Amino acid sequence: MATIVGLCGSLRQASFNGMLLEALAAAAAPEATIEIASIREIPLYNADVETGEGIPEPVQALKNRIAASQGLLLVTPEYNNSIPGVMKNAVDWLSRPPADIPRVFRGRPVAIAGATPGPGATNLSQAAWLPVIRTLGMRPWFEGRLAIASAGKVFDARGNIVDDAIRERVRMFAQGFARFVAESRN
Ligand code: FNR
Repeated sequence: MATIVGLCGSLRQASFNGMLLEALAAAAAPEATIEIASIREIPLYNADVETGEGIPEPVQALKNRIAASQGLLLVTPEYNNSIPGVMKNAVDWLSRPPADIPRVFRGRPVAIAGATPGPGATNLSQAAWLPVIRTLGMRPWFEGRLAIASAGKVFDARGNIVDDAIRERVRMFAQGFARFVAESRN
């Protein structure tokens, strides 16, 4: 079975994007397993640290985990109509050194989803990721879109999706991407 690494771009305990990632992970079987990985331990990028001490251990570990997977799922909040700094910072570290980009990112299937309590559904944040995944040479899955508005009405306090139509959209997205990842292996 294909393995997909899922990253949530929020550090918040009750993150809607964390809830969405959990729901996607639950919906991906049987085509793929979505392993949820955390960006919590990734430090702020500092070129002096990279030059002096090398790649921090949590960055190296996450790079290896992505390299061992068959796909990457980015579940992104939207901050000021763009990518949240913590999530962009994590991917910036993961792209170092550039010699490792082929191993970690190039040709790897990637999908983007996101949730917001606001009306804009993370469309601008998802669009802001496109030049990043292009420059890393990833293989985007564009057949499905999952951009959730009014997230406070979609999830209950335990992270369950209370809206049947959205639960079905999450299932279609997870399984569609899982199939794309599985087919990309062949
Ligand atoms: C936001 N939020 C937000 N929402 C949105 O839909 N568009 C936006 O441009 C912004 N901008 C923004 C900037 C900053 C600095 C913060 C802190 C928040 C609200 C955001 O969607 C909300 O906090 C979500 O709950 C964040 O996602 P998680 O933590 O629930 O996953």
